[in-house]
Amino acid sequence: MFFLMLTAALVGSAAAQERFAPQAPPGSAVSASDTKPDPDTARPAAARDGPGPEEIEQGKVLYAHHCSHCHGFNMVNPGTISYDLRQFPHDDKARFLNSVSNGKNGRMPPWGAVLSTDEMNQIWAYILTGGKT
Ligand code: HEC
Repeated sequence: MFFLMLTAALVGSAAAQERFAPQAPPGSAVSASDTKPDPDTARPAAARDGPGPEEIEQGKVLYAHHCSHCHGFNMVNPGTISYDLRQFPHDDKARFLNSVSNGKNGRMPPWGAVLSTDEMNQIWAYILTGGKT
């Protein structure tokens, strides 16, 4: 019985994090045979392998805050000397982290003291979308 309630609570809280409404009201549809709630437990684990929607969303917010006034909203280059980030090579994360941390040619300021590694990773996740989210 306790296990059932625990499962219901877990499934309920996982469903609450989804953008879409759960198909059944939380806690109502967990049957005894439902010992593998695969869709709800597998998705967060898979999200950890690559950038998940939350990471991209965080990156987008950080980008809007710190980068967009030079690099343009949605990465659409405003026609200034700043680099068009839609062109940035997606296989060169090391260069991205290095340029962002240390700045570039005295024209882009260094962000190493402003952004944490996690935050840079989130912005990178957003860069990988090419501004299409
Ligand atoms: C003050 C304006 C400004 C801001 C703010 C800014 N950048 Fe830049 N950024 C530039 C300029 C200018 C360049 C081109 C530098 C060059 O190549 O000489 C550039 C280049 C880059 C490059 C390409 C570096 C390379 O290796 O060629 C990346 C990646 C980048 N910026 C990411 C970011 C990110 C991420 C942010 C927000 C955290 C950001 N920038 C904020 C002005 C800015």
